[in-house]
Amino acid sequence: MGDFTQEAEGVIQRAKDEARKLNSYFVHDAHILLSLIRNCVNGIVENLLKDRVWYPAVLEKTEKISDASCPPPDAPWTVNAQNTLNEARKITKELGHSPCGTEHILAGLMRIDGSAMRILRELGFALSQNFVWRELFGTKTLGMESGYKQEVRVRIRWMILRDMPEVFVIESESFEFPWLEEDFIRCLRGRNSIGMVAEYDDRVVGFVICELAKTLVNVLNFAVAPDYRRKSVGTQMIAKLKGKLLAQRRTHITLEVRETNLPAQLFFKRCGFRAVSVLRNHYDNTEDAYLMQYRFRQETLAPFQPVN
Ligand SMILES: CC(C)(COP(=O)(O)OP(=O)(O)OC[C@H]1O[C@@H](n2cnc3c(N)ncnc32)[C@H](O)[C@@H]1OP(=O)(O)O)[C@@H](O)C(=O)NCCC(=O)NCCS
Repeated sequence: MGDFTQEAEGVIQRAKDEARKLNSYFVHDAHILLSLIRNCVNGIVENLLKDRVWYPAVLEKTEKISDASCPPPDAPWTVNAQNTLNEARKITKELGHSPCGTEHILAGLMRIDGSAMRILRELGFALSQNFVWRELFGTKTLGMESGYKQEVRVRIRWMILRDMPEVFVIESESFEFPWLEEDFIRCLRGRNSIGMVAEYDDRVVGFVICELAKTLVNVLNFAVAPDYRRKSVGTQMIAKLKGKLLAQRRTHITLEVRETNLPAQLFFKRCGFRAVSVLRNHYDNTEDAYLMQYRFRQETLAPFQPVN
């Protein structure tokens, strides 16, 4: 491995043990997180993680995403897990550091924003990326404020049946209770529903499903692939929806977001949505939702023109 510190190498090796322990066929980025919490002795990473999250709680959540199939002796890494380690190397290089340590791995997990971060958020770990970055690397910030953000320009078009496998992967990487394939199909067959995908480099990197009412568009499902987040993909999809609204004289976009889904709340707030009410015990009587709404005002927006 060479480019990692001895401690980081240990954490990576033990991520495989965490996967094996949970009988997972794949090593997910959540197994890297488990290994970091358990094995890391780097003081800063330890303070950030061990003081805030409890290993057994993360283990229990990770067990749910581990596929519980008979693992091979050398379990393969998921794309998100591989990207986490690649991102960690990239961050090390960007900062002019060497070799790549456990702090860079934690920063990699945050940038990829996959299952590990979802689990941390579900457990109430609500620190912003920039805060964590400052804690890890001193005065330098994650760069979202300092020009690092790498935007990608996506092509947005109608969703077709052939997109379903890719959409479904994004769905299962994004939600604890993902829609089933038949939920998508049922929805898309509805007369008032539409689906759109964002495509980059011939890959589907985001999707949105909405139902159209007379005066509003209700977003039923919306997600961006974990390795394409914070690159403005979501913003471009919302901009398309706003364009559609304008073209069709609808005046509102609405959606429901889980109380614990802080990133989505911040995202929609940034896109001009406001929380207008709380729907108590909306999700299986266990969790509240915020009803968020975007009200169209006389902004100048490009008319909606999906490409097919
Ligand atoms: C919410 C989601 C769609 C955002 O998509 P995205 O492509 O990453 O969003 P963008 O890059 O366009 O972000 C625009 C702005 O929103 C805010 N934002 C987005 N993600 C954020 C996060 N994780 N934490 C804090 N703010 C965030 C930021 O202000 C961001 O601007 P910046 O990157 O310059 O700081 C994406 O995180 C996702 O798919 N989440 C899982 C699925 C989900 O929760 N869907 C919504 C269900 S209601």
